[in-house]
Amino acid sequence: MEILSYIVYLCASVLFILGIKKLGSPKTARKGNFLSSLGMLIAIVITLFDKHILSYEYIIVGLLTGSVIGVVFALKVPMTGMPQMVGLLNGFGGGASVLVALAEYYKFLNDNSLNITSTISIVISVFIGAVTFTGSLVAFGKLQGIVTGKVVKYPLQHPLNLLLIVSVLAGGVYFTLNSGMPELIIAIAAVSLLLGVFLVLPIGGADMPVAVSLLNSYSGLAASATGFVINNNMLIIAGALVGASGIILTLIMCKGMNRSLMNVVLGGWADAGSSSSGVGQSSIKGEVKSVDAEEAAMLFDAASNVVIVPGYGMAVAQAQHAIRDLMNVLEGRNINVRFAIHPVAGRMPGHMNVLLAEANVPYDKLYALEDINDDFNNVDIVLVIGANDVVNPAARHDKNSPIFGMPILNVDYAKTVIINKRSMNPGYAGIENELFYGNNSLMYFGDAKEAVAKLVQEIKTL
Ligand code: TAP
Repeated sequence: MEILSYIVYLCASVLFILGIKKLGSPKTARKGNFLSSLGMLIAIVITLFDKHILSYEYIIVGLLTGSVIGVVFALKVPMTGMPQMVGLLNGFGGGASVLVALAEYYKFLNDNSLNITSTISIVISVFIGAVTFTGSLVAFGKLQGIVTGKVVKYPLQHPLNLLLIVSVLAGGVYFTLNSGMPELIIAIAAVSLLLGVFLVLPIGGADMPVAVSLLNSYSGLAASATGFVINNNMLIIAGALVGASGIILTLIMCKGMNRSLMNVVLGGWADAGSSSSGVGQSSIKGEVKSVDAEEAAMLFDAASNVVIVPGYGMAVAQAQHAIRDLMNVLEGRNINVRFAIHPVAGRMPGHMNVLLAEANVPYDKLYALEDINDDFNNVDIVLVIGANDVVNPAARHDKNSPIFGMPILNVDYAKTVIINKRSMNPGYAGIENELFYGNNSLMYFGDAKEAVAKLVQEIKTL
């Protein structure tokens, strides 16, 4: 039986790795998801046949309760609520690692079978798992609006965090040498729980997606450490995969925003996420010109090359289906339509790709920043739908701008730029956008879904 479980766990690990590989492209992502789920299913089934299980009652109750909660969440949570949903799930992963590590510790203690490897693994699992648990709960609270989304600064913030980290590390070393002290591992868990709150609280609400991705990586590391505690190779591999992919994703997000991880973690953009600054007190010279649906439709009628740039506003308005209709109408008139996708448009990685795929926009119409940026000179109309920071030219030249250096889509190089949003309010970075004042820019105000639907109607009448 032991050999069989090893082989099955190995197969499950291979399925996880193949699954992650397939998640790398939208075309194969569903298959990747399926393969990983299959890996998890066979891993669970073989674990349930394990001879160590004495009674199935609690397992069945847990399975049913978890499944019901999972299904309700999956059906109810809107796409825009995904970051906090992922945050909460990371937190549960971290919490589970702490509980398993503590339970194993007491078992080892009773059997008198603690060794140095298991003790070190228990400390790491409890430490990272507990930080992930409370950190993720705070992240969830911030994204959900339950906890303040502002950057929270308090006196002696960094020295206090450092003190907590040093005390956990010192406690961990002492515990490794004196492992028969249950009260010490509980104290390590308690301090780590506190540390999770203190580390995530200062991060601004709008930076939370990056923090959630980092916590996701931590939850993987905690699971991997728990794998060493219970001597389970599959958990070690799966945890390491989550840990590595989480950190890679975090770094991709930071690069897309031209920010260092430290800048995010230490609460870098004090104003990020507050969409109130800059309204009605513009420091940018120029005139804002606006168009209505009818005028915009006439411009499209004369165009032959169009690029649509979606942003966070498209997600909020759930305008992806209306945008697909617009694509169909334009293509019906022999107009070439492409989509330009910025790596950090929206609020989570792949946010725009997922929404457009849901509306059946073909993948081959989606162009990454580096594949389309040199072509905007040849574009007749760029239609910006609810995007702001990712098309702000200040990132190219204004050294004082918080987004200076962030790669942006060069939409201002196109012949005409039509920008759809509801007002002149700033986006995530809380700064004004000089694009809106450009000579070739036209604002088309309104909620993205309604505005695009109106535009489609107008084009159809031409
Ligand atoms: P933002 O700069 O956040 O701008 C979104 C714009 O959408 C707002 O200015 C808003 O203007 C408009 N909007 C909101 N609701 C709308 C609606 N119903 N209809 C039409 N427009 C609406 O978005 P972006 O350009 O996608 O940039 C993303 C930002 O998030 C970047 O700064 C990025 O660094 C940051 N960020 C991204 C991620 C990831 S991984 N994607 C993670 C963390 C942070 P109005 O209020 O005037 O309508």
